Amino acid sequence: MSKKPFYITTPIYYPSGNPHIGHCYTTVACDSIARFKRMQGYDVMFLTGTDEHGLKIEQKAAEQGISPKEYVDGIVEKFKGLWKYMNVSYDRYIRTTDDYHIESVQKIFKELYDRGYIYKGEYSGKYCTPCESFWTDSQLDENGCCPECHRPVTFAKEEAYFFKMSPFAERIEHLLLDTDYLRPKTRATELVNNFIKPGLEDLCVSRTTFKWGIPVSFDEDHVVYVWIDALSNYITALGYLNSAYSDFDTYWPADVHMVAKDIMRFHAIIWPAMLMALDVPLPKHLAVHGWITFNGEKMSKSLGNVVDPFVLGERYGCDAIRYHILREMALGADSSFSNEIMINRINSDLANGLGNLVSRTVAMADKYFGGTLPTEREADDIDKDLSGEAFAKVCETVTGFIDETKIKQALEEIFRLVDRANKYIDETEPWKLGKDESKKARLATVLYNLLECIRVISTLLSPFMPTTMPKVWEQIGASADDATYENASKYGVLPADVTVHKGEILFPRIDVEKEIEELNAIIKKNMEAAKASLSEAEKPAEEEMEIPELLPEITIDDFAKIDIRVAKVLACEKVKKSDKLLCLQLDDGMGGRQVVSGIAQYYAPEDLIGKKIQLIANLKPVKLRGVESNGMICAADMPGGGCKVMFADDSIPVGAKIR
Ligand code: MSP
Repeated sequence: MSKKPFYITTPIYYPSGNPHIGHCYTTVACDSIARFKRMQGYDVMFLTGTDEHGLKIEQKAAEQGISPKEYVDGIVEKFKGLWKYMNVSYDRYIRTTDDYHIESVQKIFKELYDRGYIYKGEYSGKYCTPCESFWTDSQLDENGCCPECHRPVTFAKEEAYFFKMSPFAERIEHLLLDTDYLRPKTRATELVNNFIKPGLEDLCVSRTTFKWGIPVSFDEDHVVYVWIDALSNYITALGYLNSAYSDFDTYWPADVHMVAKDIMRFHAIIWPAMLMALDVPLPKHLAVHGWITFNGEKMSKSLGNVVDPFVLGERYGCDAIRYHILREMALGADSSFSNEIMINRINSDLANGLGNLVSRTVAMADKYFGGTLPTEREADDIDKDLSGEAFAKVCETVTGFIDETKIKQALEEIFRLVDRANKYIDETEPWKLGKDESKKARLATVLYNLLECIRVISTLLSPFMPTTMPKVWEQIGASADDATYENASKYGVLPADVTVHKGEILFPRIDVEKEIEELNAIIKKNMEAAKASLSEAEKPAEEEMEIPELLPEITIDDFAKIDIRVAKVLACEKVKKSDKLLCLQLDDGMGGRQVVSGIAQYYAPEDLIGKKIQLIANLKPVKLRGVESNGMICAADMPGGGCKVMFADDSIPVGAKIR
């Protein structure tokens, strides 16, 4: 019988800077799922790659005096090097500069044109000549200038192709609200309210202002908009409209596209619309995760807060890094990266939890039986937690979580079994049994149960930590044939007279204080180097911050007139027909209220829901764009425009007064 296919994809990454730990999350998560599915016997296709066109790349290459292709070639090698280092088992790597992809994208564009979904129109807006870019009013900086180079813009028009989105609005709304496409589902309403309800706008899908893109085959002055080019990768890599591959019928529709929240909209709305227009079936699931943040901000090169996965991998091993990022991130939420949390987790879960379980068990088998267990057994009631029934339950639960793309929960479930096994050692006290000749059969039973439990744990963990688990098998005397998915729900797979082999410590304990000190020094050096390597346009705005002049003095009585409170954001949505305003429903501890805030360019509604904020609570109500606002949310001005909301600590109750 032929194997069931399973197709999983990461986004294709922009090769515009070195990869960082933020990029690793999706790839390592998809790799773990791909490995798990292979272990289950699926015929897996795991796709990743790079998104290599666009103005940014053209400019970066020009800065270095090389061609865009030469520029991306260098960085693609770094991405591939990182995936190799992280033991990522992709089956196919697509580059959007590959000939077959270019051929398919040209055909897709033409097909959409022939079917009447793409038409030629006019793009108008504010134009920055040096950057060769159009900007909408809301994208301009606070002086109405180009947000990239801060030079004045002019009004301009150019011919462009547009993709008609409105014919698909109803089907996309149904896809998001009534099916299991989007995970987590909680984001569906926000997408529908913000993008579909106000009317899906036609999308500008060609550019004439730069050359580094895929030419429109029937109008070569135009290059295809980079998102149409990029999204198509998921099908061109299978051979859709090209002859490089012939896997489309086998693997499409994809089982899982995994992406981070910033590119959810493209995958939840534009991609389904493209597929509907082409009459191609829709992917089964879109799994959206949050960002790995560092000091509360998304990691990025320009922030200079990049954590280098090579540095971390060299110090703790790539599996410890894989485990940490997978265990920290819940689907849909952000996860904050901190060296301290990472080291504590490695120490507690991997060194003390798993590592200790393996080393204690193997050491006892070695000490009391010279490494080979005798075959006499003596069972006890307490053994039932380490029985076939218990293993089958864990295996089933973990599989269920993987099928729902809930990797954190899958790992938690496996580590519950690690804890159970460690507790079993404390309860059965094998070191006491070892001193009593008449208890040898009981001791052999306890150790066999532990070895079986470790076999199941290490089998289920092998997709997440593929480098270390074979070392565990070696130590507990299991062969790779024993460590199969089928066997993970069975008891009694290892031979009764199994022989263990003492080996290296799997996860050495880390000295937290010493390590943090060393890591901080490395990070400081990296940040300085990162800042020095940035081009002028990329430099963080911090250095340009002009401190505003202090306002005239006031008395404490003046200040006492301002009532500032802590409030929680219960709901939030964009104000219709406004790029700038968000409407927030707050729990202020006083019956609730609605506030309108001009922060829509800097925050998506989902970034605020559930957070506590600081509210100027006694401001006279006003109407903004016809929507009533009862108060104001405190935010700090940021250099170069923009603002940051002053979030309040979650432990402070709503209604608390701020002085
Ligand atoms: N090229 C587009 C994707 C096209 S897919 C058809 C792109 N590339 S990207 O390199 O900027 O980002 C790729 C993915 O990495 C995105 O999902 C992005 O959110 C994710 N991440 C980048 N930094 C991240 C973190 N700090 N944390 C988690 N994911 C992060 O967008």
